[in-house]
Amino acid sequence: MNNLRKEKKQFISDLKVGSIADTIFVVSKKQVRKKKNNEDYCIVTLQDKEGSIEGVIWTEVFRNSDDFSEGDFVLVKGDVKQYRNSMQLVINSISKIENKEDIEYSDFIRATKKNIDSMFSEIKSYIDSIKNSYLKELLDLYFKDKKFIEDFKNSTAAVRYHHAYRGGLLEHTLAVTKICDMLTGIYDNLNRDLLISGAILHDIGKIREYETGVTIKVSDEGKLLGHITIGYGWILEEIKRIKGFPGDLSERLLHIILSHHGHKEFGSPRRPKILEAFVVYHVDHMDADIGGYNIILEESRDGEDWSGFAKNFERSIYLKKLKLINENEENTDNEINKTDENNLNQNKKIPRQPDNQDELF
Ligand SMILES: [Fe+2]
Ligand SMILES: [Fe+2]
Repeated sequence: MNNLRKEKKQFISDLKVGSIADTIFVVSKKQVRKKKNNEDYCIVTLQDKEGSIEGVIWTEVFRNSDDFSEGDFVLVKGDVKQYRNSMQLVINSISKIENKEDIEYSDFIRATKKNIDSMFSEIKSYIDSIKNSYLKELLDLYFKDKKFIEDFKNSTAAVRYHHAYRGGLLEHTLAVTKICDMLTGIYDNLNRDLLISGAILHDIGKIREYETGVTIKVSDEGKLLGHITIGYGWILEEIKRIKGFPGDLSERLLHIILSHHGHKEFGSPRRPKILEAFVVYHVDHMDADIGGYNIILEESRDGEDWSGFAKNFERSIYLKKLKLINENEENTDNEINKTDENNLNQNKKIPRQPDNQDELF
């Protein structure tokens, strides 16, 4: 196939109900299912840098299509239809791209829209502001290690629900750290060094929980242990390398890692029992909700008032922009965004039951 770079003219965001898809995607998920008559059909999730769409390949087309796997690039033709409040691509043909030389990978990889290097230097400046020598040394063991830096910058924060893209872990960690720092200006009985260290380290287990490539997968270690347990073990290992690291400080920091999901049913073996752990839990939860909302907003189509059913929130989300009458036309995006966040925070009052708690925070 010649010059694929020119061929990727159509992206997920261009697809609308009634339109025809004719472009290359990467397969992020493939499930072969059986109909009642025992015939196979296939459900796929197709991805490019703009987002993802679910596709269905009915028996006849599936039987005659190339064999493909998750992570493969495929040329897809199909009709975009409405299915249960969401868009679905009914695939008429799907063929695997064998020659990847001309693939422009950046067309297919979802990545943070923020600048990775400047976010990373902000994290570094928070580390430099830590006064406690043990916590500073611990953070330096990670953030002066070339391999760790590369992995941390590259990692996602989830497979699907929030900050689920390359650089997502960094973006999420920086937001949590910044908000925690702001809160030290409001609540003066917080220990800033412990809080900032906990915020920066709370999700580092995600580096090993996820494999962030063109598509995002949960690693075997991630499936078996999860990022809270991985983070706990990893940090404990590094603490042991630091001579004289105080036991009480070590226990408090590890407690923040273990309790940051707040509840046992959300994967935390301990609920928060120190003030800094309460703060990391709430801030983490808030930023995960806002990140989750932003993904839904990004994947929504123009003119859609409501999202489809969002699994992570267990509800549909109201997306219609607020239009205020009797105000001058300078109704800034900021005002609209603030209202969106207000709606979200109101929704937070209802505890949710995630179907996959590991992906939520
Ligand atoms: Fe988190
Ligand atoms: Fe987490």
